Amino acid sequence: MEKINAAITGIAGYVPDYVLTNDELSRMVDTSDEWIMTRIGIKERRILKGDAKGTSDMGAEAVKSLLEKTETSPDEIDLLICTTVTPDMQFPATANIISDKVGIKNAFSFDLNAGCSGFLFGMSTASKFVQSGKYKKVVLVGADKMSSIVDYEDRSVSPIFGDGSGAVLFEPTTEDVGIIDEILHVDGAGRKHLHQKAGGSLKPPTHETIDAREHYIYQEGQPVFKAAVKGMADVSVEMMEKHNLTSDSLTWLVPHQANLRIITATAHRMNLPPEKVMINIEKYGNTTDGTLPLLLWEWEKKLKKGNHLIFSTFGAGFTWGAIYLKWAYNS
Ligand code: UT7
Repeated sequence: MEKINAAITGIAGYVPDYVLTNDELSRMVDTSDEWIMTRIGIKERRILKGDAKGTSDMGAEAVKSLLEKTETSPDEIDLLICTTVTPDMQFPATANIISDKVGIKNAFSFDLNAGCSGFLFGMSTASKFVQSGKYKKVVLVGADKMSSIVDYEDRSVSPIFGDGSGAVLFEPTTEDVGIIDEILHVDGAGRKHLHQKAGGSLKPPTHETIDAREHYIYQEGQPVFKAAVKGMADVSVEMMEKHNLTSDSLTWLVPHQANLRIITATAHRMNLPPEKVMINIEKYGNTTDGTLPLLLWEWEKKLKKGNHLIFSTFGAGFTWGAIYLKWAYNS
């Protein structure tokens, strides 16, 4: 039997309309456009406004456009996986809510949380279902309403994050395209540097946890920064070496968008020129599970069948890794 590969056959993205600029943020906390641009490389980020709007609303927008674009009926979908750190609710899964909102009824669906590596781990997971031969159309949607857990009184965290989502369709192919290899890592000891203190079973919400602002992101920037540079660069270089990819033969680096300095350090270690690195952090910030699909969404027209892509991420957990994928279509 021929080997089944899992290929990305469509991509769509969604970002909310509201633009939170560095200038507006500078009126909320003690920061400046100059500091944010120099240290992080973000000019603006999108924010989902409106009561009763959550992560599933952005995820559903991305999935709806994906289905339209790929002329796929919701009934044809076998599985939908949502990667998120900001689910609508603790339960049920945001994936279930998205499936309901877009009319996917013949599929099962579940959430996956791997911090900022969620979409990468989701690519690995989605591909296994496709490679099994049993599932023909699998939707992977990464969506986060980071503004729901960002403390807009904390200047060390508030400039970084934004809201957004993106979705891809995975389908089987026997051609030499799709996911070729993956290297995924976790080190749970890193959790002390990046987590949300309250709201889970360890520390359920109380008046005290709210007063202590423990439902927001807690991040120690420098240890996370150091681990991110090392983790993303090491694993990306390892993937290049394993597959004899060079700075000439590799077409694109698709890196998680957390800090421009982390991205450039990774690209530098890979010896890649800037024109081979997808970057849109300046306009969206770190959308957590949205970064990788939002890059593909923006770059889709430039991607050609057979292009060699390395995806690379680092996030809370710690989680990190790289995926090597050959692009499957010309748009
Ligand atoms: O995707 C999830 C994983 N997360 C990440 O990858 C984030 C990794 N970390 C980072 O990107 C960076 O560490 C930050 C962007 C969070 C911080 O940048 P940094 O260059 O590491 O700054 P720092 O924390 O060392 O702070 C340097 C100075 C401090 O002032 P002093 O002590 O030198 O007087 C901070 O108080 O910058 C100050 N500072 C700010 N100043 C103006 C911190 N935040 C701000 C700010 N505006 N927003």
